[in-house]
Amino acid sequence: MTAPRFAVNWSGRGSQYTEDEIATVVEAMRAADPQTQGRFQAAFERDFRTRFQVPHAFAVSSCTAALELAALISQVGPGDEVIVPAHTFAASAIPFARTGARLVWADMDPATRLVTAETLRPLITDRTRVLVVVHLYGLVCDMDPILALAEAHGLLVVEDVAQAIGVGYKGRPAGSMGHFGCFSFHTHKNITTLGEGGMLTVRDDAHAALVPGLRHNGMRSYDGERPRYWLPAMTNVDFDLDGVWPYNFCLGEVQCALGSRMLERLDHITATRAARAEAFQAALSDFPEMVFQSRPEGCGHAHHLMAVRYDGRRHPATGNRHRDELMTLLAEAFGIKVVVQYCPLYRYPLFARGGFGAARCPHADEFFDAMISFPFHQWMPDTEFATMIAATTAALTRLRGETA
Ligand SMILES: Cc1ncc(COP(=O)(O)O)c(C=O)c1O
Repeated sequence: MTAPRFAVNWSGRGSQYTEDEIATVVEAMRAADPQTQGRFQAAFERDFRTRFQVPHAFAVSSCTAALELAALISQVGPGDEVIVPAHTFAASAIPFARTGARLVWADMDPATRLVTAETLRPLITDRTRVLVVVHLYGLVCDMDPILALAEAHGLLVVEDVAQAIGVGYKGRPAGSMGHFGCFSFHTHKNITTLGEGGMLTVRDDAHAALVPGLRHNGMRSYDGERPRYWLPAMTNVDFDLDGVWPYNFCLGEVQCALGSRMLERLDHITATRAARAEAFQAALSDFPEMVFQSRPEGCGHAHHLMAVRYDGRRHPATGNRHRDELMTLLAEAFGIKVVVQYCPLYRYPLFARGGFGAARCPHADEFFDAMISFPFHQWMPDTEFATMIAATTAALTRLRGETA
């Protein structure tokens, strides 16, 4: 047998399930009839509305599906502009590109690594229709100035909450502040519904009325009384928005049943992650070269990822050290599977070849070249967490030319 390459790996497995969660899945397998769009979906959506203080919530197959629906309902197209953070996961942008609207890339604030009213404002033109705001790494954006900006220009706000479930901003849950909130239950996320899943939250009744048909092939009941229930056919199909073709983005009943159950553990998961984040930062507090995401007053943090900027200039002995030297030590000498996340989106072939390769986002570029993302799942054993801290301390010490 070959030895495992990494002492601390990058885990792709979602929350390890409790016995109660496993039992919930097994019971739902037996009880769900039908296996999609039944009582477990209704319960999950109700639980979500209550927990996240939103008038409407729709379970969908992924956060990307939620973003697709938000893009369709925003009714943007050729001639319109949608402002999207340059530094995020590609799914924040793809649904809006598909509409034919022009993507305009917003730079990050270097301290929070998020878009702010200041980074968004200069990009607004008379063609701008939508602001996509991503609570990246789990930190909620400073929303009041962004919402005021959107209001002043009559813009829709789409919150991408994929990484920030369960935290908020000045008492308001992330996902409840914009016109749309898009949540992910993908395997990497803080809670998962068996590997895939998502939720779309909607503020306005008129927007919400469009979702069921767009989510499920334009299906709807026939209007009015039907003396013979089978005539003219089982269900009708139609457009909810003229010319906008619907999808099937439904989430199965077993996943919905698990989703409701996972919400019960969300606060505990968030607290566990927060304690880990605090411990990691405290353990590295003697290394100013490690620059953590700063967190403004009132902005919650779900600590979905632990992305750090390595800045050798912050210590006299490491002035010319580069991030890759630290990563080489961590990955190859100490077996910690650190990674680099998210090219600024305009650098990916998908967006460059799609016509969105131009941008002026110096902070996103600078962060990309200096960032390191550490394995940071809440189910990481304490021993592995301690190994990761010890390895990071030793690697940083070595880069200073000191002996640990
Ligand atoms: C910021 C962000 N937006 C959207 C998504 C897409 O989520 P999903 O995989 O549920 O479609 C992700 C998932 O990684 C994400 O991190």
